[in-house]
Amino acid sequence: MLRISIVYHSETGNTEKMAELIKEGALQVAGVEVSLMTVDRLDRKALDESQVILFGTPTYYGTVSWQMKKCMDTLPVRVEGKLGAPFASAAWPGGGGYELAEMALIQGMLIRGMMVYSGGVVVGRPPTHFGAVSHKAPAGFDADRCRKLGENLALKGKELFGQP
Ligand SMILES: Cc1cc2nc3c(=O)[nH]c(=O)nc-3n(C[C@H](O)[C@H](O)[C@H](O)COP(=O)(O)O)c2cc1C
Repeated sequence: MLRISIVYHSETGNTEKMAELIKEGALQVAGVEVSLMTVDRLDRKALDESQVILFGTPTYYGTVSWQMKKCMDTLPVRVEGKLGAPFASAAWPGGGGYELAEMALIQGMLIRGMMVYSGGVVVGRPPTHFGAVSHKAPAGFDADRCRKLGENLALKGKELFGQP
């Protein structure tokens, strides 16, 4: 079974909805188990056992929320060698900074020795670019992108880690 954890912060539900769609996409792949958890209720056992971990945040002043930053700075498990990917929501696409928030998540993953997944613009449709992004609550294209990121991560996770 490939284990995936999705860690997110969400105050008004938009990033949470993204997390649920990513889970839905990942579960389209057989042999995958997904744990959803918020930054203030981390499931340490699931994190430990996961080969793949995604981090999701609302965009706050052009970067990650402080709640997500705190979570990444104090993560209670070792994550080196695991595969990761970011997702972020924002109120203002095209300048609001969700890609910068994703880059901050990517920095956090790299500095802890994680591998960062990218399907870029070359692995299926819709393209996931740096990760999944959404304008407020994900709908239409934004929702499809979340599902696609989940599916891509599950497939890449199985390719890299097999089915331990
Ligand atoms: C303190 C604060 C700062 C924010 N800063 C930005 C910002 O810089 N750019 C942006 O597009 N949206 C910004 N927003 C809007 C949120 O990123 C957006 O509403 C997001 O979808 C909320 O996610 P959530 O529903 O998961 O909490 C900000 C919201 C708050 C509360």
